[in-house]
This record gives sequence, C-alpha cells and structure tokens, in this order.
Amino acid sequence: MSIQTISWVNGHVKLIDQTKLPHKLEYIHCRDVKRLWQAIRRLSVRGAPALGVAAAFGVLLGIKSFSGNDRKRFLKHVERVSGYIATSRPTAVNLFNALARMKQVIQRHPGVSVAQLKNILKKEALAIYEEDRKLCRKMGDFGAALIKNGASILTVCNAGALATVDYGTALGVMYTARKQGKKFQVYACETRPLLQGARLTVWELLRSGIDTTLICDNMAATLMKQGKIDAVFTGADRIAANGDTANKIGTYMLAVLAKHHGVPFYVVAPQSTFDLAIADGKQIPIEERSREEVLGFGGCPTAPRGVNVYNPAFDVTDHKLITAIVTEKGIIRRPFYTNIKKIFKVSRKG
Ligand code: MRU
Repeated sequence: MSIQTISWVNGHVKLIDQTKLPHKLEYIHCRDVKRLWQAIRRLSVRGAPALGVAAAFGVLLGIKSFSGNDRKRFLKHVERVSGYIATSRPTAVNLFNALARMKQVIQRHPGVSVAQLKNILKKEALAIYEEDRKLCRKMGDFGAALIKNGASILTVCNAGALATVDYGTALGVMYTARKQGKKFQVYACETRPLLQGARLTVWELLRSGIDTTLICDNMAATLMKQGKIDAVFTGADRIAANGDTANKIGTYMLAVLAKHHGVPFYVVAPQSTFDLAIADGKQIPIEERSREEVLGFGGCPTAPRGVNVYNPAFDVTDHKLITAIVTEKGIIRRPFYTNIKKIFKVSRKG
C-alpha cells in the first residue's frame, strides 16, 4: 500500500483529488495559493494532519510571486497569505499550527535577506511534511498495542493515509498492527454527508488487504449490541486541554454508544492536533458546510429541495467518553488535563 496524499514537486503542490475517489485516482497540481485554498475548501485535500501540510505548502505558493528584498514588506505579504489560507476551513487546528510555525521561523531569523527567508520557509514546510510521516508511524507503534488479535474495530470518517501525508493516525495504528501479524477486522461507518468512510477509508483498507466491512452510520448501535465491536478508533481535528475532542460529525454519537456498551473508545492524533490554549471543547470552532451536501450526493438529489438543512461538519466528544488518546509521545490516559500537559511537557503557566 503506497498512498502519497500530498507532496511538494518542482515548486508546486501535488495532491490526490479525494473528491474523485474511489472511482478515479487523480491528482491536482496547485501552482498558486488560490488553487490550493479551493482544494482545501472543497475537500480535495482533507484530514487534519494533511491540512497542516497543505497550509505550510500554501505559504510557499503564496510567496513565490513576491519580488524584492524588503523584509518588512515580505513579512506583511506572509501575514496576508497565511491569513487567506486560515479562512479555508476553521476546525482542524493542524492548519493553524502549521501557519504559526511558518511565521515563527521567520521571527527566529532576524536580519536575513528575503531570498534566505524563502529558503528557510521551504525547509520548514518540508520539515512539517517529513515530521508527519514519522509521527504517524510512531503513533502506529504505540497504538498497535491496543489492538488485540482477532479484534473487531469500528472507525468513522477517514483517519488514514489520505488524511495525512502517507500513513494515517487511526488507520495507521491498524497498518502497524497488521505488519505485526495481528489478525483483525474493521467496520467502516460510511460517514454522511460526504461519505469519507465509504469512499476513502474503504478504498484505503481494501488496498492494504485489511478485512473491511462497510456499514451505514445508523447501524453502529446494533453492531455494538450484537457484541460485534471490541474497540472504536478515530482521528481528531482539535483536542482541547481537557481532552475534549472535535472530529467528524457522528464521532460523538459513536462515543456515547461505546460508553453504553462498555466498548473502549480510542482517539489517535499527533501533538499538532492539540489546542492547549482552549480549556474545553465548547471553544472549538465547528465548521458548517453547504446545504447541498445534505440535499444529495454527487449531483444526485436525495431530498426535496425546499427543506431546511443543518450541516455541522464536526462534533465534540466529551473527554469523559474517551478511553485513551494515542499520540507520537505515547498513550494518554485519564486524568487527561494533567496527563496531556505531562506528555507534551507543558509548564503549568503554558
Ligand atoms: O472533513 P474532513 O474529511 O476533513 O474530516 C476529517 C476528520 O474528521 C478526520 O477524522 C480527522 O481530520 C482526523 S484525520 C487523521
């Protein structure tokens, strides 16, 4: 299984157009930041860690057109470009963390020329890209211990190679468990409205040879009642300081069900998905998307057009419903507030 979701090739961004999957594996070549913004907004590239990498590459696209050697003007330009990228999608904090990193690296290099700054920014973006590849494999190593031989796992949305550079968070754990020779099966929720589970997770898992069964979202309760699920593994878009976790809409519902049925509920996410500046999930901005996504799919209407529609793209799972959070630094268990700070070595003030 080799999936290269996003990369920097010959001065532009090459990414898999995930709106075309599973029918076609096609790539988009983004040569300017506007094209990349559109790719993010329409979910051609999606998934929190991949959005972080896309944002960093977006800054590189945005500075290509800058000419001259006026550092002050250049800083203003970078501010404008990153402000623009920040308007693409609000929930995944990886996107904002990557933009912050790109700006911080400039601050760390006072007195260097614009040409040098452009090089430094390129190195930083490529470092964010490389780190994602390594972090996902580390999370895989830690998380695989949570998968028992013969287990039956439930997952939602897509937290796989397609949501990262090339490996995945929740699905990365499964890839590592499989490499270790464990046998298990996965139930994938189809994940309305945009079907990331049916289209992307199933595509990925079948390519990797993992035993996969697709279910509609409203079947999860029955499967748990039938004793068919041993654990739930999901990704995350933003985790607050107390462990409250935003992820694809429907995740909270699964966590409530898992609690009711005594099934462990695991979140898999790197440090770049944590937002320790916010105390709890109430402060996480939740993206609302267009009514068209709920009224039909792929241009095919599934409801009368006149109806009111509500389409929040994410929900927040209360930390009390989460069994553990798998990160690249290790597995975080309760009490989350204390242990999150401990694992990331955040001082009391920070
Ligand atoms: O709207 P999407 O497809 O970007 O939502 C993605 C998710 O909710 C993923 O589960 C999350 O980003 C974690 S990806 C490793």
